[in-house]
Amino acid sequence: MAHIGIGFLGCGNIGCGVYRLLEEQTHHIEQNEGVRFDVRRILVRDTRRARAAQIPQAMLTDRPEDVLCDPEIRIVLEFMGGEEPAASYMIRALSAGKSVVTANKMALASRWTDIVAAARQSGAGLYYEASVCGAVPILRALNHSLQANRVESVTGIINGTTNYILSRMSREGASYGDVLADAQRMGLAEPDPTADVEGYDAAYKLSILATLAFHQHVPVDCVYREGITHVEPIDIQCGRELGLTLKLLAVAKEKDGKIEARVHPAFVPDRHPLASVSDAFNAVYVRGHACGEMMFYGRGAGDMPTASAIVSDLICAASADRHALPAVSDEPCSVAEDWRCQHFVRMLASDEPGVLAAVCSRFAEHGVSIETVVQKGERDRQGRAQLILLTHEASERAVRGALSEIGRGVAELGSVIRVEGR
Ligand code: HSE
Repeated sequence: MAHIGIGFLGCGNIGCGVYRLLEEQTHHIEQNEGVRFDVRRILVRDTRRARAAQIPQAMLTDRPEDVLCDPEIRIVLEFMGGEEPAASYMIRALSAGKSVVTANKMALASRWTDIVAAARQSGAGLYYEASVCGAVPILRALNHSLQANRVESVTGIINGTTNYILSRMSREGASYGDVLADAQRMGLAEPDPTADVEGYDAAYKLSILATLAFHQHVPVDCVYREGITHVEPIDIQCGRELGLTLKLLAVAKEKDGKIEARVHPAFVPDRHPLASVSDAFNAVYVRGHACGEMMFYGRGAGDMPTASAIVSDLICAASADRHALPAVSDEPCSVAEDWRCQHFVRMLASDEPGVLAAVCSRFAEHGVSIETVVQKGERDRQGRAQLILLTHEASERAVRGALSEIGRGVAELGSVIRVEGR
């Protein structure tokens, strides 16, 4: 039986979850994997704080060197979160030949080149399944199960907090602010929800997903990002009437050598598998030239789902003869400047002769073809009605160009929401 010394950097919810899972599954792991993990030291900020796991006091330390410089620690598990000092500690551990297992999407996406270079130089292992979609084994699938494919697109619901908020807004017709406040009361959204609701968390994850899917580094700065704070119940309602469900989507596509990577609210048809992914669940829908379409679904957050992926990575790190790094080119990726999809456009339009013709003419002049037009019956105090248009697939630039030429006297723009997967 191999005994492997491990150390933790950080011990919040996820670290405690990993500690508990390792204790609970010791026998199972020994029997099935032939390895025993000995937790030697755990770096924490406050060694006196109460924790959600029964950790011997002597294991806790507030000195990073106790983990990073202990020759008996072969694998370092990083749970600190944030870019620094987590990234520097991971680089130090890798440079010292220790394998690293991390759930830290922010550090990994922001410092990908430095962290991977440190692993490449020393030959130590770098494992990060838990950084994208928690328990869902999407990175392993991209790295080890779909190698024979040219991945064409990856489309995901990769942030549970926003999916929970949008699911409840859809079911209850409630406002964004009310559902967010409720989710915060229930502990489902952070007191400062910015990282989730503004799409930063999803953008880090998409940078990692796209990098692995297309074998080119897609820096997080190349990911277009828009959050859900401006989503209005009326848009969700109008979309439903057209058979569409609103999600915060992460979309990555590769076409003609150009990559597009974007996080924003988007409609998907009700019949699309992603439409049924509700509440805090995550899913990633992959299209490969050989495998066709497939969807990976499960829990993307929480201490035990995340611990499930971390312990799996730990076992891989302990049992690998040679640590493989993903085949990712160092060349900068070429980012698409414009992209094509269908667009849902909601406007408040004067209910008068010629208005619809004027709106449609602007779209026609920009080469945008319209698939569906709906005018809602009720008018506001100024006699304006809600006008909903669904375009055929069109360039984003052309749609924006047409909209910029529609005067407010004709129609005031309410919202433009991209539609994927129709
Ligand atoms: N806050 C994330 C989510 C989980 O809501 O999905 C960690 O990435």
